[in-house]
Amino acid sequence: MKNLKLDISKAGVSITAEMEAKALAANSLLHSGKGAGNDFLGWVHLPSSITDSEIAAINGVADKLRAKADVIICIGIGGSYLGAKAVLEAMSDPFKLLHKEQKNPTVVFAGQNISEDYMSELLEAVKDHSIAAIVISKSGTTTEPAIAFRLIKAEIEKRYGKAEAAERIVAVTDRARGALKTLATQEGYPTFVIPDDVGGRYSVLTPVGLLPLAAAGVDIAALVHGAQEMEKATAEGVPFAENPSAIYATVRNALYASGKKIEILGSYEPKLQYINEWWKQLYGESEGKQGKGIFPASVTLTADLHSMGQYIQEGERTLFETIISVAKPASKVVIEADSENLDGLNFLAGKRISEVNRMAELGVQLAHVDGGVPNLRVEIPEISAEAIGSLLYFFEKACGISGYLLGVNPFDQPGVEAYKKNMFALLEKPGYEEATKAIKARL
Ligand code: PA5
Repeated sequence: MKNLKLDISKAGVSITAEMEAKALAANSLLHSGKGAGNDFLGWVHLPSSITDSEIAAINGVADKLRAKADVIICIGIGGSYLGAKAVLEAMSDPFKLLHKEQKNPTVVFAGQNISEDYMSELLEAVKDHSIAAIVISKSGTTTEPAIAFRLIKAEIEKRYGKAEAAERIVAVTDRARGALKTLATQEGYPTFVIPDDVGGRYSVLTPVGLLPLAAAGVDIAALVHGAQEMEKATAEGVPFAENPSAIYATVRNALYASGKKIEILGSYEPKLQYINEWWKQLYGESEGKQGKGIFPASVTLTADLHSMGQYIQEGERTLFETIISVAKPASKVVIEADSENLDGLNFLAGKRISEVNRMAELGVQLAHVDGGVPNLRVEIPEISAEAIGSLLYFFEKACGISGYLLGVNPFDQPGVEAYKKNMFALLEKPGYEEATKAIKARL
């Protein structure tokens, strides 16, 4: 698979024929739709089902927003936020805002928290900018984005009037249900549908991820193409040895069974930090249930070697790590010789920074393996939309297989309701009267 290579040679796991058979059976269950959570398997064939005209429709609406606004506020949380944020960070120049000329509108996020300061600073920051909004909620009833949208909608209507607001706000939501759908219909917002059978954390390749990314100038056709390639590489019938998702799922479950309860996803490219966050949601929500599941953690390297490195090297031996390794940087920076050499770094003169980064990666890998931390390596050729598309689908497919190997339904999230009930009771939401009394007595 040209977009991704998986190296498990330092994971310390011997894969038996039985393990291979179980992984392939789990993959088949995703394809046959006979496993748990089979109402939510729309993501399995999603990449190959995306048509050129769907991509064109998304790009068309994105272009309208791009023409109107220099800041696009993307409102959503969890699966309605992290995919777009992850790909956008990966594809962006971190110093973009320092450039005098902005080629693309800036996409900022809201509704992923309930922080008053965050909202107030956002509204203040966009005061002198022309703005538009993309509001994303599958249920259409999630509190965090609903609060943010109420405020952003009011700001847009105040500035531009209601009719123009309908040209500057796009909704991405359920086909028929939920408060956001009702509102979007009533206000006449252009709307994209989140398919019923695609859950939030598997929705990055639907308009949930594609619309904000297109608005930010990301090549979504290339992203989808990368995912399509990985869909083929992990399809039912692909032999185990050629299916990277099946191998990854098998190895991580074997490590879990041997007591490695925590998986750390890391990368030596800071742009991939939010890929870690997206992955944490994908695996945490899919597997953490029924008292089971690998705890997904993450690091950004080499920065975190100076904070978490000690624990990883010598702390409790319940860890394994998966490193996303980028084969080729996009640009070239060479370390120069210095006639005084006061910092003693002349031995690096003439080397590219990426060579130093690579040696750090290889050195850390061996040190961690020696310290009892098994290592898996996922190599992508470069940080490009196509490679990231492949990476996303690789992790999604592996997550479905892995959840079935673990014996859980990887497509539900019953546990996320608990906090909402308490929050609504504390906020005295109508209908929660008994719960309000009970919870207040416990404070
Ligand atoms: O994966 C999930 O289902 C969740 O993270 C949801 O995406 C998140 O709670 C947001 O839900 P909604 O899109 O309904 O607002």
